[in-house]
Amino acid sequence: MASPQQINNLQQHFQSAVALSGSPNAVSTSPTQSYLAQRINSMKPAKPLKPFSTGDIKILLLENVNQTAIEIFSGQGYQVEFYKSSLGDEELIEKIQEVHAIGIRSKTKLSEKILKHAKNLVVIGCFCIGTNQVDLEFAAKSGIAVFNSPFSNSRSVAELVIAEIITLARQLGDRSIELHTGTWNKVSAKCWEIRGKTLGIVGYGHIGAQLSVLAESMGMNVIYYDVNMIMSLGTAKQVNTLDELLGKADFVTLHVPETPETANLLSTPQFAAMKDGSYVINASRGTVVDIQALVEAMKVGKIAGAALDVYPNEPAKNGAGLFSNELNPWISELTSLRNVILTPHIGGSTEEAQSAIGIEVASALVKYVNEGSSSGAVNFPEVSLRALDLDQNNSVRVLYVHQNVPGVLKTVNNVLGNHNIEKQFSDSRGDIAYLMADISQVDSADIKSLYEQLENTPYKIVTRLLY
Ligand SMILES: NC(=O)c1ccc[n+]([C@@H]2O[C@H](COP(=O)([O-])OP(=O)(O)OC[C@H]3O[C@@H](n4cnc5c(N)ncnc54)[C@H](O)[C@@H]3O)[C@@H](O)[C@H]2O)c1
Repeated sequence: MASPQQINNLQQHFQSAVALSGSPNAVSTSPTQSYLAQRINSMKPAKPLKPFSTGDIKILLLENVNQTAIEIFSGQGYQVEFYKSSLGDEELIEKIQEVHAIGIRSKTKLSEKILKHAKNLVVIGCFCIGTNQVDLEFAAKSGIAVFNSPFSNSRSVAELVIAEIITLARQLGDRSIELHTGTWNKVSAKCWEIRGKTLGIVGYGHIGAQLSVLAESMGMNVIYYDVNMIMSLGTAKQVNTLDELLGKADFVTLHVPETPETANLLSTPQFAAMKDGSYVINASRGTVVDIQALVEAMKVGKIAGAALDVYPNEPAKNGAGLFSNELNPWISELTSLRNVILTPHIGGSTEEAQSAIGIEVASALVKYVNEGSSSGAVNFPEVSLRALDLDQNNSVRVLYVHQNVPGVLKTVNNVLGNHNIEKQFSDSRGDIAYLMADISQVDSADIKSLYEQLENTPYKIVTRLLY
């Protein structure tokens, strides 16, 4: 929670963070810019809160998390310890004992073995999309909230797909390979403009919707299929079934999550249902397309081209020779086909996405540490209270993580009941529950006693008081 001065500082830090992260022409981009505006608007003058019994906030940042995040934490006055790489287990155990927050990417494994040494840790920031590298359940049971950034790279994926639609329609990959090897092959047969063609988007979420707008602005007709009824953007039209989409689309692009229902969503019967000479694009998850079936459909000319960014098995690191039949049995067949674009899971890999991830995750961590809001946490009940007003003197914000068992709230309210409970919100997720309460008419002398009483309640996991 920030004072006007702090808001000003934060605003400056956000702005310099955005400038730092910009493209070569320093044009700041969505989602960064829109996120910035939203963050700043949500920080109207509010009572600055300081933690009781925490002291300075220490944060450990590993794996070269984006500069935008460092700017934000430093701007909050946190003590930042930054490393470009991950740490070995021993060093990590030593460092994690002291810190209140840790920021990682995908290489640092925060297992129970590591996390049980964290005495002060309240929050983990995964500056990436995935969170499998963290033992989410153990973290929740220890009262540690985990945040990530699932949608900061949506635009990057949508732009890649636009590039692929044109690349497939014009067979650019083949022409480029030919010319790299000395062959001049000027052809127009089966090369198309995309204007007036129909794009079928399967999964109209963050990426699908962005793509819809971009494709339409280039003159494409857009139809989409989604398990949910979703309001269309522009003049895009939702269709009722996947088969209906497959029968109408010239280009089919997949933007669904990996679930049991989406495994092999496109396989032999679906390729058969597609228009002759249509194209397939998959930048969602590797399991969504049956690639052996795609190979067969391309061999018989049913599918005229495909762009794949994701695969059922992907190499764990960069290097030559890793994308081979040992990884997936159909790779040599796939790579021998014409008009197939293969990219190494780079849909979301842009400078802009990285800086947006830095801003999004750092902001979530600051909001959790400074205000207690757990909105967006991946392992934790999501609870949020609006900020305290500047004139709310003698108010204390109680943050209380506890086991989700009957009777806890009664005990807690007995403790808080001597004060005026202005607001209270609680939610649970599995075995964990989280309560936020703003109580007023609290003398500063009472804060220590309040804290100790809450600490001594049965089923308590973590107590934090901000005042
Ligand atoms: N290639 C990359 O680098 C990259 C980067 C980011 C995201 N992704 C992947 O892209 C996919 C989409 O991401 P998003 O951010 O748009 O997700 P999202 O959650 O915003 O949207 C997914 C949409 O799919 C719909 N859906 C779910 N199951 C469906 C089904 N069986 N049939 C039709 N629709 C279904 C949902 O209702 C939702 O609207 C995810 O799999 C994500 O992991 C890939």
